[in-house]
Amino acid sequence: MLPPYFNIDPDAALAELDAPVSSAGFANIAGACAQGRNDLASRGLNAEGQKTLRLFSTWEITRYLIPVAQAHFRRVLKANPDLPQGTSETEGGAKWFTLDEVLRLRAHFAQEGSKAKEYLPYRPAGLPAKMVAVANFKGGVGKTSTAAHLAMSAALDGYKVLVIDLDSQGSMTSIFGGKVEDEWQTMFPLLARHYAEHLQSDNQRRVDRGEAPVPMDDTLTEALGVGTRDLIQSTHWPNIDLIGAQLNLYWAEFQIPVWRMAGRGWKLWDALTDRLEADGVLDSYDLIFIDTPPALGYLTINGLAAADILLVPLGASFLEFDSTGRFFDMLHSTFASIEEGENIAARALGRPEMAFEWDAVRAVLTRHDESQQAELAALMQAYLGKTLSPHRQGFTALIGQAGEQVSGIYEADYRDFNRETYARGRETFDATYAAFKKLLLGVWRRDELAQREAAE
Ligand SMILES: Nc1ncnc2c1ncn2[C@@H]1O[C@H](COP(=O)(O)OP(=O)(O)OP(=O)(O)O)[C@@H](O)[C@H]1O
Ligand SMILES: [Mg+2]
Repeated sequence: MLPPYFNIDPDAALAELDAPVSSAGFANIAGACAQGRNDLASRGLNAEGQKTLRLFSTWEITRYLIPVAQAHFRRVLKANPDLPQGTSETEGGAKWFTLDEVLRLRAHFAQEGSKAKEYLPYRPAGLPAKMVAVANFKGGVGKTSTAAHLAMSAALDGYKVLVIDLDSQGSMTSIFGGKVEDEWQTMFPLLARHYAEHLQSDNQRRVDRGEAPVPMDDTLTEALGVGTRDLIQSTHWPNIDLIGAQLNLYWAEFQIPVWRMAGRGWKLWDALTDRLEADGVLDSYDLIFIDTPPALGYLTINGLAAADILLVPLGASFLEFDSTGRFFDMLHSTFASIEEGENIAARALGRPEMAFEWDAVRAVLTRHDESQQAELAALMQAYLGKTLSPHRQGFTALIGQAGEQVSGIYEADYRDFNRETYARGRETFDATYAAFKKLLLGVWRRDELAQREAAE
């Protein structure tokens, strides 16, 4: 028996072939997909519709969220009838709570409970939210899964979280049940507004010099009226909000260079940072997670420039290690060339030079299989040292199996899984969060001490 790729008859191959594809052919394929999708949706298989977050049991709350003994937890609820009491499916069965109720209970324990215990996570007063970008130009390395799980872990831990989807694939947006009609409900208008404001001040200078101003088109005029808060939507998580994405956001990759050509002095990389700051968003949240597309385009550059902490997920495979090395190479040349461009002018004008700075940069091993990849992981650790986060996020069936309505481990009901599988999957993502949280707290503490020192 020959392998299947021998003795293929060219005439038979031709007989099976269809006509060459024109660009209209893509529309036909898209049409077929849309029909299939509607068919699936009509059978109740759509991932859309209103998402709801599951309930949390007393066991889970006391095990993972509010670290007290179950008996103590029950006593406190009994003694405080005003607190949420939970609901049970059967008479005398386990009590279940919404996450909103868990957050209220946590606030109560933080107020009344033992001061020796950490009920509320550390957040230095008066300092802005930390922005975390998850990026790698290699596709499918676990960017979105990592960002989504970190956002959920942080929310369960009691932080107030904003998630920004910069990927026009919109995976993060579907995970959080976001509804996005067009590019006007994505980050796009904030970028447009940033350019429009640049154009306005350029025009002022033109008028002062007696020149004609450059006209503002409809898009730019409209964008001037849009603020970050117009774009933020709430999600089925009480303490996670979203700025969503959809296909049209990709238009920004074509529009931004056109604007930049027209306005050479426009600092496009500052657009996201400036807008979030100006709209006070950094004071309303603890953490902002930015999911980026698998490309180093203008949207990613904006996300990376805005970020305080950069996480770069990758698997322990040769190809992913190699391409991640190239990604860092691209980051270097991209940001160094922006700095160089800015600083030539700054030096000429005798102004201070600019330099990008990140609080911390970590590569994170994802989808890890210790039985197959331990050696490569150890080698990567040896080369990357501290830059590689010490925790290896394990491959877990929980992610793929969680089902249509549920995204990932924290949304899944543990009763749907074998306890062992659940505990292992949860453990590895809890540890991913713990490694991230340690980084975050260190960074926040450094800022806090610097602030204190500056005040003295
Ligand atoms: N720890 C894990 N265990 C098992 N499967 C995982 C794990 N992390 C991610 N996956 C799966 O790997 C695939 C790619 O993950 P994900 O979508 O997060 O990658 P990505 O880098 O965001 O991709 P893209 O480049 O397309 O944005 C998904 O099918 C996801 O369910
Ligand atoms: Mg993704």
